[in-house]
Amino acid sequence: MRLSVIGCGYLGAVHAACMADLGHEVVGVDVDAAKVDLLAAGTPPFHEPGFADLLERALATGRLTFTTDPDAVASAQVHFVCVGTPQREDSYAADLRYVDDAVDALVARLAPHPDGPVVVVGKSTVPVGTAERIAARIARAAPDAGATLVWNPEFLREGFAIQDTVSPDRIVYGLPPGPDGERAAEVLDAVYADLLARGVPRLRTDYATSQLVKVAANSFLATKISFINAMAELCEATGADVTELAEAIGYDDRIGRKFLRAGVGFGGGCLPKDIRAFMARAGELGVDQALTFLREVDAINLRRREHVVELAAAACGGSLSGARVAVLGAAFKPDSDDIRDSPALAVAEGVAGRGGQVVVTDPAALENVRRTRPHLRTEPDVRAALAGADVVLLLTEWREYVGLDPAEVGELVARRQVVDGRNVLDPARWRAAGWTYRGLGRP
Ligand code: UDX
Repeated sequence: MRLSVIGCGYLGAVHAACMADLGHEVVGVDVDAAKVDLLAAGTPPFHEPGFADLLERALATGRLTFTTDPDAVASAQVHFVCVGTPQREDSYAADLRYVDDAVDALVARLAPHPDGPVVVVGKSTVPVGTAERIAARIARAAPDAGATLVWNPEFLREGFAIQDTVSPDRIVYGLPPGPDGERAAEVLDAVYADLLARGVPRLRTDYATSQLVKVAANSFLATKISFINAMAELCEATGADVTELAEAIGYDDRIGRKFLRAGVGFGGGCLPKDIRAFMARAGELGVDQALTFLREVDAINLRRREHVVELAAAACGGSLSGARVAVLGAAFKPDSDDIRDSPALAVAEGVAGRGGQVVVTDPAALENVRRTRPHLRTEPDVRAALAGADVVLLLTEWREYVGLDPAEVGELVARRQVVDGRNVLDPARWRAAGWTYRGLGRP
């Protein structure tokens, strides 16, 4: 089938390549010429395991192209809207400017397609009510195209983006009532035929529910993380161990073990801004009380960052002024170069703000750090970053940091002090090598 993918960021680029790999003919459109050039040349503009190979394979078939030309969507029957919805600068709400621009550009080019009904598929994470507004816009601006909007949220995790695209836990269609919705669902079934044949569950629902599914899922995940981080605060006050607590409660499969890793908290381009946009939308809908708890979820999360700065200061005798602090990790999670709302960088900034001499290292994200935070000192080599450190803060659990040999790196630092912001190091092993070890929520 002929597909267009509008917006070639994390979501769109991976979606486009995966769809081409499944056999579809895909054109990816983006306003960012530099990104389009990279993708067209087979160079991923971001770090994602497996994506370089997938991109190369898909480009080699000739079925995948990238362009900045908005007219290129004209040949497609199905259009995926995959642009970003970041947090607005002036409020908690989502910035829908890119969605609106993408839809404007698309509706101007919608026309009947020889292969069947035209379907616009919304994949961006949006405030509930946006799909209804876009559907009305399509009907008004392109009445003769016979195009139908389906809301089809994505749930991909960075680091697992390909797997989550081709083997998602579920596929959700938000459909308008009536025969148009039925026909559009059939078209989308054909796009996802391979996934459906493999038994991926597919749920059909209305627009409002489909938009809520995404933000509800992310709110639940954020709540789970903040729950265990709140327990970490209790553990710190009582001498208990949150990692053992999480293991013990996780055996109850109503609770489950996943997303109960206490540490410096959640970051990234999704969870923080999605819970805030959800609160903002609830306020507009007059049900802000229903989501007041998310304010607490956010506050617990941000408190962990401050706590790590305090631990670093405590390790340096109460003052960070002039202390040499090695920050291991800048990305918001391992296997990613994404530094959006990264807890690691928030801590690095906090330490630097209190006079610490910070050196940040990361296997993938340093270019992004240098571009956005030129005032932070970066060092690509972890051993060089550790040299002379008064305290080491492990803030992103990259495999290479988890695997460090405490005896060996103990020779590099000025003082053997480590704050394990992800609770991934073995305290006994580090202590045995002469380190003062502090985890989060651990004695
Ligand atoms: C998330 C959702 O998981 C995904 O379904 C959605 O589509 C987009 O948002 P992502 O942002 O890639 O995906 O990261 P995720 O793996 O969810 O981690 C988010 C943050 O939570 C990271 O900073 C991670 O370090 C942190 N985290 C995760 C914890 O602190 N503890 C945990 O137990 C799990």
